[in-house]
Amino acid sequence: MSKPRIYITRKIPDKLLEPYKLQYDFRMWGKEDEAVPRDVLKKEVKQADGLLCVLTEQIDEDLLQEAPYLKVAANMAVGYDNIDVNAAKKYGVIITNTPDVLTETTADLGFSLLLVTARRMIEANQYIKKDQWKNWSPYLLAGSDVHHKTIGITGMGRIGKAIARRAKGFGMSVMYYNRSRKPEAEDELQAVYTDFDTLLAEADFVVSVLPLTAETKHIFNAEQFQKMKNSAIFINISRGGVVNEADLAEAVRTKQIKGAGLDVFEKEPVAADHPFMQLEEIVCMPHIGSASEETRSGMLNLCLENIHGVFTGRGPKTPVEAGRL
Ligand code: NAP
Ligand code: GLV
Repeated sequence: MSKPRIYITRKIPDKLLEPYKLQYDFRMWGKEDEAVPRDVLKKEVKQADGLLCVLTEQIDEDLLQEAPYLKVAANMAVGYDNIDVNAAKKYGVIITNTPDVLTETTADLGFSLLLVTARRMIEANQYIKKDQWKNWSPYLLAGSDVHHKTIGITGMGRIGKAIARRAKGFGMSVMYYNRSRKPEAEDELQAVYTDFDTLLAEADFVVSVLPLTAETKHIFNAEQFQKMKNSAIFINISRGGVVNEADLAEAVRTKQIKGAGLDVFEKEPVAADHPFMQLEEIVCMPHIGSASEETRSGMLNLCLENIHGVFTGRGPKTPVEAGRL
């Protein structure tokens, strides 16, 4: 019997595949600096039994209907807004994601982004490197305090709680908005549940850890930025699509809010002429929330375990349920 063919849409270290090579026929997109073109992916899925894909690939009906043998698509991300899970169900394709393994690493990046934005550290680094540091002065690159301020977390899931734990270490008050109450976060972290509007009005730092869904698309727009304090800083580490980016740029430009730290954008990679690039108060990162070597390997290993679970009949470790989001 021939081995199941697994197509991997990015170049990944060969050593991760080593334990599985006897059982699977792996094929991989080979260019490190280029995403697999759609036409190549469409051609590959025609023969593939399994797919290891990343968040920039659209796994939609158009693709799935051309994949007659496909049994599993393992997404190398916890978010799966790039996948039409209902279409996958229709075509009998199991979808898996990578929860938990990336929670702490993503929270590290999220809290760091909050710190660097508040304390203007990216500007400060550029200031020295551009040889502009000629003097010390009382308000040179003065930013906003973080300690003992109020953080408002929208999306109190795994990563939201990990952010809240970090915030407690800085003596911050934690408020949160989520579609369901989280009594464990209220008990352990003294997180205070509020409605969305109260959080926007009272938080010094508004952090998005909400998944991108039909309900959360552009949930942060001009109306919400107007409700925030002029001194507030907005942090987004979930998906660019939860924000109306033109409204955010305008809110920062007009000083409706003080600044923003963004790891994610509606269209990635973000264009060099995007309005955010003109605003020093907006710190941008190229979607590196989970990007530590350890965690990225952990995510890839989990994808491979999920694929292996499907083909051995043991079942995937972290399947995505249709209709969950
Ligand atoms: P999670 O544990 O599922 O947390 C998501 C939370 O959002 C849940 O508590 C959920 O509530 C809540 N929620 C969902 N829809 C909502 C709505 N319409 N209104 C209010 N609350 C809502 O997921 P996670 O592991 O923390 O990851 C969260 C997101 O972070 C991912 O979906 C992904 O987009 C993003 N992410 C980004 C990076 C990065 O590199 N920047 C890395 C990892 C993850 P319930 O508990 O009631 O379901
Ligand atoms: C990254 O953005 C993820 O969802 O894991």
